Amino acid sequence: KRHLLSAGDLGKDDALLILDTAEELAQVADRSIKKLPTLRGRTVVNLFFEDSTRTRISFEAAAKRLSADVINFSAKGSSVSKGESLKDTALTLEAMGADGVVVRHNASGAPHRLANWVHGSVVNAGDGTHEHPTQALLDAFSMRRRLGNLEGRRVSIVGDILHSRVARSNVLLLHTLGAEVTVVAPPTLMPVAVDAWPCEVSYDLDAVIPKSDVVMMLRVQRERMNAAYFPTVREYSRRYGLNGDRMGRMPEDSIVMHPGPMNRGIEIAAEVADSQRSTIVEQVANGVTVRMAVLYLLLGGSESALGGAVPVPA
Ligand code: CP
Repeated sequence: KRHLLSAGDLGKDDALLILDTAEELAQVADRSIKKLPTLRGRTVVNLFFEDSTRTRISFEAAAKRLSADVINFSAKGSSVSKGESLKDTALTLEAMGADGVVVRHNASGAPHRLANWVHGSVVNAGDGTHEHPTQALLDAFSMRRRLGNLEGRRVSIVGDILHSRVARSNVLLLHTLGAEVTVVAPPTLMPVAVDAWPCEVSYDLDAVIPKSDVVMMLRVQRERMNAAYFPTVREYSRRYGLNGDRMGRMPEDSIVMHPGPMNRGIEIAAEVADSQRSTIVEQVANGVTVRMAVLYLLLGGSESALGGAVPVPA
Protein backbone atom coordinates (compact mmCIF):
# COMPACT_ATOMS: atom_id res chain seq x y z
CA LYS A 1 0.00 0.00 0.00
CA ARG A 2 1.28 3.47 -0.83
CA HIS A 3 -0.79 5.64 1.53
CA LEU A 4 -2.30 5.37 5.02
CA LEU A 5 -5.60 7.23 4.77
CA SER A 6 -8.06 5.16 6.79
CA ALA A 7 -7.82 2.47 9.45
CA GLY A 8 -10.55 0.72 7.46
CA ASP A 9 -8.12 0.20 4.56
CA LEU A 10 -5.93 -2.04 6.73
CA GLY A 11 -6.56 -5.76 6.61
CA LYS A 12 -5.63 -7.84 9.65
CA ASP A 13 -2.27 -8.83 8.13
CA ASP A 14 -1.43 -5.17 7.33
CA ALA A 15 -2.33 -4.05 10.84
CA LEU A 16 -0.36 -6.85 12.48
CA LEU A 17 2.64 -6.11 10.24
CA ILE A 18 2.65 -2.49 11.45
CA LEU A 19 2.24 -3.49 15.11
CA ASP A 20 4.92 -6.20 14.87
CA THR A 21 7.31 -3.81 13.11
CA ALA A 22 6.70 -1.27 15.87
CA GLU A 23 7.48 -3.97 18.43
CA GLU A 24 10.79 -4.70 16.66
CA LEU A 25 11.59 -0.98 16.62
CA ALA A 26 10.78 -0.70 20.34
CA GLN A 27 13.21 -3.52 21.05
CA VAL A 28 15.86 -1.74 18.99
CA ALA A 29 15.28 1.42 21.04
CA ASP A 30 15.57 -0.65 24.25
CA ARG A 31 19.09 -1.56 23.11
CA SER A 32 19.91 2.19 23.30
CA ILE A 33 20.11 2.45 19.49
CA LYS A 34 18.59 5.88 19.09
CA LYS A 35 18.83 6.28 15.33
CA LEU A 36 18.52 3.95 12.30
CA PRO A 37 19.84 4.77 8.80
CA THR A 38 16.76 3.29 7.07
CA LEU A 39 15.28 6.46 5.51
CA ARG A 40 18.52 8.31 4.83
CA GLY A 41 18.04 10.47 1.71
CA ARG A 42 14.22 10.47 2.02
CA THR A 43 12.22 13.60 2.83
CA VAL A 44 9.10 13.67 5.01
CA VAL A 45 6.89 16.78 5.00
CA ASN A 46 4.66 17.36 8.02
CA LEU A 47 1.76 19.42 6.65
CA PHE A 48 -0.33 20.68 9.56
CA PHE A 49 -3.37 22.86 8.85
CA GLU A 50 -4.80 22.23 12.32
CA ASP A 51 -3.17 22.45 15.76
CA SER A 52 -1.39 19.43 17.20
CA THR A 53 1.10 18.66 19.94
CA ARG A 54 1.51 14.87 20.09
CA THR A 55 0.98 13.88 16.45
CA ARG A 56 3.14 16.60 14.91
CA ILE A 57 6.04 16.15 17.30
CA SER A 58 5.94 12.36 17.21
CA PHE A 59 5.94 12.22 13.39
CA GLU A 60 8.93 14.56 13.41
CA ALA A 61 10.74 12.45 16.01
CA ALA A 62 9.86 9.24 14.13
CA ALA A 63 11.18 10.51 10.79
CA LYS A 64 14.38 11.82 12.40
CA ARG A 65 15.02 8.53 14.23
CA LEU A 66 14.90 6.86 10.81
CA SER A 67 17.40 9.46 9.46
CA ALA A 68 14.91 11.09 7.05
CA ASP A 69 15.07 14.81 6.29
CA VAL A 70 12.03 16.55 7.78
CA ILE A 71 10.23 19.68 6.59
CA ASN A 72 7.67 21.02 9.06
CA PHE A 73 4.88 23.10 7.57
CA SER A 74 2.29 24.83 9.70
CA ALA A 75 -0.56 26.73 8.01
CA LYS A 76 -0.17 29.52 10.57
CA GLY A 77 2.42 31.95 9.24
CA SER A 78 2.34 30.44 5.71
CA SER A 79 0.90 31.66 2.40
CA VAL A 80 -2.35 29.84 3.26
CA SER A 81 -3.31 33.14 4.92
CA LYS A 82 -3.03 34.74 1.44
CA GLY A 83 -5.53 32.24 0.04
CA GLU A 84 -3.19 29.54 -1.26
CA SER A 85 -5.08 26.25 -1.64
CA LEU A 86 -4.27 22.84 -0.17
CA LYS A 87 -3.39 21.59 -3.66
CA ASP A 88 -0.98 24.43 -4.46
CA THR A 89 0.58 24.20 -1.01
CA ALA A 90 1.11 20.46 -1.45
CA LEU A 91 2.54 20.82 -4.96
CA THR A 92 4.93 23.49 -3.71
CA LEU A 93 6.19 21.18 -0.99
CA GLU A 94 6.41 18.26 -3.39
CA ALA A 95 8.57 20.38 -5.70
CA MET A 96 10.98 20.51 -2.76
CA GLY A 97 11.26 16.73 -2.94
CA ALA A 98 8.77 15.18 -0.49
CA ASP A 99 8.73 11.37 -0.51
CA GLY A 100 6.08 11.28 2.21
CA VAL A 101 3.46 13.83 3.26
CA VAL A 102 1.95 13.64 6.73
CA VAL A 103 -1.19 15.76 6.73
CA ARG A 104 -3.59 17.05 9.37
CA HIS A 105 -6.51 19.12 8.14
CA ASN A 106 -9.82 20.33 9.57
CA ALA A 107 -11.67 19.14 6.45
CA SER A 108 -12.72 15.48 6.46
CA GLY A 109 -11.35 13.84 3.29
CA ALA A 110 -8.45 16.30 2.74
CA PRO A 111 -5.77 13.53 2.85
CA HIS A 112 -7.72 11.53 0.21
CA ARG A 113 -7.72 14.58 -2.10
CA LEU A 114 -4.04 15.13 -1.47
CA ALA A 115 -3.26 11.52 -2.39
CA ASN A 116 -4.54 12.25 -5.92
CA TRP A 117 -2.28 15.28 -6.34
CA VAL A 118 1.13 14.24 -5.03
CA HIS A 119 3.45 11.42 -6.01
CA GLY A 120 4.69 10.65 -2.50
CA SER A 121 2.96 8.56 0.17
CA VAL A 122 0.26 10.38 2.12
CA VAL A 123 -0.34 9.64 5.80
CA ASN A 124 -3.54 10.90 7.40
CA ALA A 125 -2.60 12.56 10.71
CA GLY A 126 -6.24 13.47 11.48
CA ASP A 127 -8.87 14.87 9.10
CA GLY A 128 -11.80 16.79 10.55
CA THR A 129 -14.23 14.47 12.33
CA HIS A 130 -13.35 11.58 10.01
CA GLU A 131 -10.24 9.51 10.83
CA HIS A 132 -6.93 9.40 12.70
CA PRO A 133 -5.46 6.01 11.71
CA THR A 134 -2.04 6.32 13.36
CA GLN A 135 -3.75 7.17 16.67
CA ALA A 136 -5.74 3.93 16.39
CA LEU A 137 -2.54 2.01 15.60
CA LEU A 138 -0.68 3.44 18.59
CA ASP A 139 -3.70 2.73 20.79
CA ALA A 140 -3.81 -0.90 19.60
CA PHE A 141 -0.06 -1.17 20.16
CA SER A 142 -0.44 0.22 23.69
CA MET A 143 -3.29 -2.20 24.46
CA ARG A 144 -1.31 -5.16 23.14
CA ARG A 145 1.68 -4.25 25.29
CA ARG A 146 -0.47 -4.20 28.45
CA LEU A 147 -3.02 -6.92 27.65
CA GLY A 148 -1.51 -9.19 24.98
CA ASN A 149 -3.60 -10.42 22.02
CA LEU A 150 -6.63 -8.20 21.37
CA GLU A 151 -8.85 -11.03 20.09
CA GLY A 152 -12.03 -11.01 22.20
CA ARG A 153 -10.90 -8.08 24.39
CA ARG A 154 -13.73 -5.72 25.38
CA VAL A 155 -12.98 -2.08 24.59
CA SER A 156 -15.36 0.74 25.53
CA ILE A 157 -14.85 4.10 23.81
CA VAL A 158 -16.59 6.82 25.78
CA GLY A 159 -17.57 10.44 25.20
CA ASP A 160 -17.91 12.71 22.22
CA ILE A 161 -18.18 9.98 19.57
CA LEU A 162 -19.96 12.36 17.17
CA HIS A 163 -16.94 14.60 16.61
CA SER A 164 -14.22 12.00 17.15
CA ARG A 165 -11.94 10.83 14.36
CA VAL A 166 -10.14 8.78 17.02
CA ALA A 167 -13.33 6.81 17.77
CA ARG A 168 -14.04 5.95 14.14
CA SER A 169 -10.47 4.82 13.42
CA ASN A 170 -10.32 2.79 16.63
CA VAL A 171 -13.65 1.06 15.98
CA LEU A 172 -12.51 0.05 12.47
CA LEU A 173 -9.04 -1.13 13.50
CA LEU A 174 -10.07 -2.90 16.71
CA HIS A 175 -12.85 -4.73 14.87
CA THR A 176 -10.27 -5.90 12.30
CA LEU A 177 -8.05 -7.11 15.16
CA GLY A 178 -10.90 -9.11 16.70
CA ALA A 179 -11.74 -6.93 19.72
CA GLU A 180 -15.34 -6.34 20.87
CA VAL A 181 -15.94 -2.60 20.85
CA THR A 182 -18.73 -0.61 22.49
CA VAL A 183 -19.16 3.12 21.92
CA VAL A 184 -20.75 5.03 24.82
CA ALA A 185 -22.10 8.59 24.62
CA PRO A 186 -25.08 10.77 25.41
CA PRO A 187 -27.63 10.58 22.56
CA THR A 188 -26.68 14.08 21.34
CA LEU A 189 -23.03 13.04 20.91
CA MET A 190 -23.67 9.72 19.11
CA PRO A 191 -23.43 9.76 15.27
CA VAL A 192 -26.74 9.11 13.49
CA ALA A 193 -25.05 6.46 11.32
CA VAL A 194 -23.51 4.58 14.27
CA ASP A 195 -25.70 1.53 13.56
CA ALA A 196 -23.52 0.89 10.48
CA TRP A 197 -20.34 0.81 12.59
CA PRO A 198 -18.94 -2.62 13.55
CA CYS A 199 -19.52 -2.14 17.29
CA GLU A 200 -22.11 -2.15 20.07
CA VAL A 201 -23.78 1.10 21.15
CA SER A 202 -24.58 2.12 24.73
CA TYR A 203 -25.81 5.25 26.47
CA ASP A 204 -25.05 3.95 29.96
CA LEU A 205 -21.42 4.18 31.12
CA ASP A 206 -22.12 2.49 34.47
CA ALA A 207 -23.47 -0.59 32.67
CA VAL A 208 -20.36 -1.07 30.51
CA ILE A 209 -17.66 -0.23 33.09
CA PRO A 210 -17.60 -3.66 34.86
CA LYS A 211 -17.42 -5.45 31.48
CA SER A 212 -14.51 -3.47 29.95
CA ASP A 213 -10.88 -4.56 29.59
CA VAL A 214 -10.17 -1.09 28.20
CA VAL A 215 -12.01 2.16 28.86
CA MET A 216 -10.93 4.78 26.34
CA MET A 217 -12.07 8.27 27.26
CA LEU A 218 -12.43 10.94 24.57
CA ARG A 219 -12.10 14.70 24.80
CA VAL A 220 -15.34 16.64 24.65
CA GLN A 221 -14.70 18.79 21.56
CA ARG A 222 -16.54 21.88 22.69
CA GLU A 223 -15.02 23.93 19.86
CA ARG A 224 -17.09 21.82 17.42
CA MET A 225 -20.46 22.09 19.20
CA ASN A 226 -23.08 24.39 20.74
CA ALA A 227 -25.20 24.18 23.89
CA ALA A 228 -27.75 21.90 22.22
CA TYR A 229 -25.16 19.08 22.20
CA PHE A 230 -23.70 19.70 25.62
CA PRO A 231 -25.93 21.13 28.35
CA THR A 232 -23.54 21.55 31.30
CA VAL A 233 -20.06 20.36 32.26
CA ARG A 234 -21.32 19.15 35.64
CA GLU A 235 -24.12 17.05 34.14
CA TYR A 236 -21.80 15.59 31.50
CA SER A 237 -19.16 14.65 34.09
CA ARG A 238 -21.76 13.10 36.37
CA ARG A 239 -23.16 10.82 33.63
CA TYR A 240 -20.13 10.22 31.37
CA GLY A 241 -16.98 11.22 33.25
CA LEU A 242 -14.50 8.60 34.48
CA ASN A 243 -13.92 9.32 38.16
CA GLY A 244 -12.19 7.29 40.88
CA ASP A 245 -15.44 5.65 41.94
CA ARG A 246 -16.18 4.35 38.43
CA MET A 247 -12.58 3.27 37.90
CA GLY A 248 -12.91 1.21 41.10
CA ARG A 249 -15.64 -0.82 39.38
CA MET A 250 -13.45 -1.77 36.41
CA PRO A 251 -12.16 -5.37 36.24
CA GLU A 252 -8.75 -6.20 37.68
CA ASP A 253 -5.92 -5.57 35.14
CA SER A 254 -8.17 -3.40 32.96
CA ILE A 255 -6.71 -0.14 31.63
CA VAL A 256 -7.74 3.47 31.06
CA MET A 257 -6.75 5.27 27.87
CA HIS A 258 -7.09 8.79 26.47
CA PRO A 259 -5.62 10.01 23.17
CA GLY A 260 -5.07 13.51 24.57
CA PRO A 261 -5.37 16.40 24.85
CA MET A 262 -7.42 15.82 28.02
CA ASN A 263 -10.00 17.99 29.71
CA ARG A 264 -9.07 17.00 33.26
CA GLY A 265 -12.10 17.24 35.51
CA ILE A 266 -14.59 16.93 32.63
CA GLU A 267 -14.31 13.54 30.88
CA ILE A 268 -11.58 12.20 33.17
CA ALA A 269 -10.65 12.93 36.79
CA ALA A 270 -7.01 13.77 37.53
CA GLU A 271 -6.73 10.82 39.96
CA VAL A 272 -7.74 8.47 37.08
CA ALA A 273 -5.47 10.06 34.48
CA ASP A 274 -2.51 9.75 36.84
CA SER A 275 -3.35 6.25 38.13
CA GLN A 276 -1.55 2.93 37.54
CA ARG A 277 -4.33 1.86 35.18
CA SER A 278 -3.74 4.84 32.90
CA THR A 279 -1.68 4.31 29.73
CA ILE A 280 -1.82 7.97 28.69
CA VAL A 281 1.92 8.66 28.92
CA GLU A 282 2.75 5.26 27.35
CA GLN A 283 0.44 6.10 24.45
CA VAL A 284 2.51 9.20 23.68
CA ALA A 285 5.82 7.27 23.77
CA ASN A 286 4.33 4.45 21.70
CA GLY A 287 3.15 7.02 19.17
CA VAL A 288 6.74 7.66 18.08
CA THR A 289 7.47 3.94 17.66
CA VAL A 290 4.28 3.20 15.74
CA ARG A 291 4.80 6.20 13.44
CA MET A 292 8.35 5.00 12.80
CA ALA A 293 6.87 1.66 11.71
CA VAL A 294 4.37 3.37 9.40
CA LEU A 295 7.02 5.58 7.76
CA TYR A 296 9.42 2.66 7.48
CA LEU A 297 6.83 0.42 5.80
CA LEU A 298 5.60 3.14 3.41
CA LEU A 299 8.91 4.75 2.49
CA GLY A 300 11.52 2.13 3.30
CA GLY A 301 11.59 0.33 -0.05
CA SER A 302 10.24 -2.93 -1.36
CA GLU A 303 11.85 -5.27 1.17
CA SER A 304 10.26 -3.49 4.10
CA ALA A 305 6.87 -3.26 2.37
CA LEU A 306 7.06 -7.05 2.08
CA GLY A 307 7.62 -7.37 5.77
CA GLY A 308 11.40 -7.74 5.92
CA ALA A 309 13.08 -7.38 9.29
CA VAL A 310 14.05 -3.89 10.39
CA PRO A 311 17.74 -3.47 9.50
CA VAL A 312 19.64 -2.66 12.64
CA PRO A 313 23.29 -1.52 12.81
CA ALA A 314 25.57 -4.20 14.29
N1 CP B 1 -4.04 12.67 20.09
C1 CP B 1 -3.73 13.68 19.24
O1 CP B 1 -3.96 13.60 18.02
O2 CP B 1 -3.15 14.75 19.85
P1 CP B 1 -2.69 16.10 19.11
O3 CP B 1 -3.92 16.80 18.62
O4 CP B 1 -1.94 16.87 20.15
O5 CP B 1 -1.82 15.70 17.96
